[in-house]
Amino acid sequence: MGNQLASVILSGVRRTYASSGGDVHAVNDVDLEVADGEFIVLMGTSGSGKTTLLNLIGGLDRASAGRLEVLGEDLAGLSEARLARLRMISIGFVFQELNLLPELTLQENVALPLEGSGVTRAEARRRADEALVRVGLSGLGPRFPDEVSGGQQQRAAIARAVVGERRLMLADEPTGALDSATGAQVMKTLRDLCDSGVTAIVSTHNPANAEYADRVVRMQDGRIVEITAGSSFTSGQSA
Ligand SMILES: Nc1ncnc2c1ncn2[C@@H]1O[C@H](COP(=O)(O)OP(=O)(O)OP(=O)(O)O)[C@@H](O)[C@H]1O
Ligand SMILES: [Mg+2]
Repeated sequence: MGNQLASVILSGVRRTYASSGGDVHAVNDVDLEVADGEFIVLMGTSGSGKTTLLNLIGGLDRASAGRLEVLGEDLAGLSEARLARLRMISIGFVFQELNLLPELTLQENVALPLEGSGVTRAEARRRADEALVRVGLSGLGPRFPDEVSGGQQQRAAIARAVVGERRLMLADEPTGALDSATGAQVMKTLRDLCDSGVTAIVSTHNPANAEYADRVVRMQDGRIVEITAGSSFTSGQSA
C-alpha cells in the first residue's frame, strides 16, 4: 500500500452550508489519513458527503473548520492563486461525465494541464502520449472524444489526471455513467496506477468497486462511519 508518507491528512474537517432549512453539515468532523500510493474507495448513500469531501481535498471548496494537509501543504494557508497552482501541477480530477473538451483530441485534452504549467507544447504532447500509454490508450491520441467509447473517454480523463508529475487523483463517480464491464476496466486502470505510485480517492455507489481498493471508507450524514480493508488489500482473505 505504498510507503509511510501521507498524501492527505484530514483532521476535524467540516463543511457546513447555510440553507433555508437551517445548517447542513455536509462534512462533519472527518479525520482521515491517506498514504502515498493508496487506493481509497469512498462509499455512502446519496447526500452522505462524498462529493463535498472530494472537493475539499482538491481545494475546489474551503473547509468551515478543521485541518487539511494535501501533498504536504496546509490548504487553509494557501492563497487562491497558490491553491490553483497546486491543483494544476499536482492534483487530477475525474468526474462522472463530460470530463473532456469535445473540440480537442485525446492527446490535446491530456496535455492541457501541462501547457498551463509552462512546459513546451512538444514536451506536453510527449508526456500526454506517455500518460495515454499508461491507461491503455496508446495510439488513440489523435482521436476526438466522440470517436472513442465511454470507457476510453474515462481512461483519457484518468490520463489527464496523472499526466506529468501529478500524483493525487480525486475521482467522483468515475464509473457512474458506464456499464459494469466498462466500469470494471476503469477501476482496474485506477488500481494499476496506484500500484505505480499514484494515490487515488474514488467515490462510487457500486459495492463491487470495493474489490479494487486498499481501504473502503463509508460515509453517512457527513461522517465517516466505517473504514474496512478492500479486497485488494486482503488479497483473497475475506474482508
Ligand atoms: N451548495 C450546497 N448548499 C447546501 N447544501 C448542500 C450544497 N451542496 C451539498 N449540499 C448538501 O450537503 C450534503 C452532502 O452532499 P454531497 O453532494 O457531498 O453528497 P454525495 O455523497 O456526493 O451524494 P451523491 O451520492 O448523491 O452524489 C447533502 O445533504 C447536500 O444536500
Ligand atoms: Mg456526489
